[in-house]
Amino acid sequence: MVDLRGRDFLKLLDYSPEEIKYLIRRAETLKKQKHNNESHRYLKGKQIAMIFEKDSTRTRCAFEAGAHDLGMEATYLGPTGSQMGKKETIEDTARVLSRMYDGIEYRGFGQDVVEELAKYSDIPVWNGLTNEFHPTQMLADMMTVYENFGKLSGLKLVFCGDTRNNVGNSLMVVCAKLGMHFVACAPREVWPDENLVLECRRICEETGGSIDMDEDIMKATKDADVLYTDVWVSMGEAQELWEKRINLLKPYQINMDVVKNAKPDVIFLHCLPSFHNTGTTIGKEIYEKFGLKEMEVTDEVFESSHSKVFDEAENRLHTIKAVMLETLKDE
Ligand code: CP
Ligand code: NVA
Repeated sequence: MVDLRGRDFLKLLDYSPEEIKYLIRRAETLKKQKHNNESHRYLKGKQIAMIFEKDSTRTRCAFEAGAHDLGMEATYLGPTGSQMGKKETIEDTARVLSRMYDGIEYRGFGQDVVEELAKYSDIPVWNGLTNEFHPTQMLADMMTVYENFGKLSGLKLVFCGDTRNNVGNSLMVVCAKLGMHFVACAPREVWPDENLVLECRRICEETGGSIDMDEDIMKATKDADVLYTDVWVSMGEAQELWEKRINLLKPYQINMDVVKNAKPDVIFLHCLPSFHNTGTTIGKEIYEKFGLKEMEVTDEVFESSHSKVFDEAENRLHTIKAVMLETLKDE
């Protein structure tokens, strides 16, 4: 019997395969309730604080709209306007918020910050993305994979691009936990951290999954069930890195040749936001500077029937609700 009451949600290494699958099943029920317009205000009267030291559309909206769906109130603390970090320590902030709220979401920089926040909080703390991990994203991703294949264990997921970023690290962990075959497809210099690879391989010994790294995109993506990519420069990294990353990662773009190399029913996932056209300020700047109209994924793939990115984005809501509900419920 899975019981997550009072637990933090900081990284998936802290969760068992059963607990991860349980949260996904819980999210499926919440999704049905939402679609059927059935009230599910199970956490009525509770309140959450949401700390965002970096930008967000999906994560913020999923926590905020999700809190409201569950009958809660939510307070947004943005990159400016609170004392945290500047005049007040993480420890003191945690102790103050614990006196006023029932749960804390944190998006920011080092994983050590969210871990410290959790250490000094008396209430559940949820990681809404750090430099190292993005665990709530993984629940939505795995829910989307399950919706498409009716299973998780045994599937091959290939992540192309900056494979040692928060999303790459987290995908490797979740695939290991769920017995999937994970391939980090990238030049060696952006392969995931060796210690994390070793830890994930140890997990695979129990789950039947596997972890591989490959510099050859056609070899790596052969017969993939899931193709995944993310931006080449993450939030908090220097803008000057763009040129270097473009040169490094251009050969790892997910285009139709890559899709055709995978299984016929392959799905394409991306945590979003994505540079698949020149419709954004940064996308336009990159085009003007480097002549590139699309980056980690072509517009053709992004808009194709293989692409499930908007189901995936919607599933952020249902899975984040499952995390809040299961960690905050009284009984
Ligand atoms: N995927 C994701 O975390 O999106 P946001 O940055 O918009 O929250
Ligand atoms: N790797 C990206 C993920 C955004 C959801 C970043 O950290 O910016």
